Amino acid sequence: MQLKQREIFDPADAYDAIAGRYDDFYRRRIDRAENRFVHYLMPSGGSLLDLACGTGLVPREIEPLVEPRNYLGVDASAGMIEQARRHRPDLEFDYQDIDFLDVGSRLFDRAVLLFGAFSYLRKPLGALRRIRRHVVENGEVLIMAYGEGHVAKPGYCLANHPEVYRHYYTRNELRLFMFNAGFKDVRTFGWRRWPDETMTRLPVPLVPALWVEHQLVRDDDCYFIVARGRA
Ligand SMILES: C[S@@+](CC[C@H](N)C(=O)[O-])C[C@H]1O[C@@H](n2cnc3c(N)ncnc32)[C@H](O)[C@@H]1O
Repeated sequence: MQLKQREIFDPADAYDAIAGRYDDFYRRRIDRAENRFVHYLMPSGGSLLDLACGTGLVPREIEPLVEPRNYLGVDASAGMIEQARRHRPDLEFDYQDIDFLDVGSRLFDRAVLLFGAFSYLRKPLGALRRIRRHVVENGEVLIMAYGEGHVAKPGYCLANHPEVYRHYYTRNELRLFMFNAGFKDVRTFGWRRWPDETMTRLPVPLVPALWVEHQLVRDDDCYFIVARGRA
């Protein structure tokens, strides 16, 4: 019997196809609340390497005061970068596949890879090693991968595209990748699935209080698996 092979599509191509509509997927109150929580998690101060920057969520909503000399956003979708440049023409955005990340001799005080984009990488360990090379010693990184609970997350822009490559991580896997890539002071936690109705009733500033560190939550009940560490 011949097995039918399922075609697996490249994530950056999928984002390219929806780049013009991407921001419309994330205009709900819950999305603002999630951005607020990421704002609370962000490593602070100095220059910032925004990996898989998409349409520029970080300089638009999470850290709008970031200065041009302190920011570089990279993404593997030309369409997403085009949107980012439209929103923030004063900032530098570069076309880069993080699996092969190379920004020359540039070093950043911190690097972030937000909202699950780590799950799209085909060479996660190699990518983390490359990221580390571009962060100053003791500089902090914040990495977000998808947890299995993300499958059920309402509003995910590629929910109807299960054929797009992605990997769902556990805390242990992400922790091991971080250690093996040479990061220290690594801490991981799960971003638990709270019902959207609960979240949307809360005043936005109170959201971080609910999304506290959940070490006891099962991995498969998490939207995101988050890791912080130092280069
Ligand atoms: C869920 S979006 C997140 C975008 C942004 N960080 C945000 O929070 O809005 C995922 C992004 O990862 C990018 N991406 C996927 N694979 C990539 C890769 N190998 N290298 C760089 N960017 C990639 C996509 O093009 C897309 O912009």
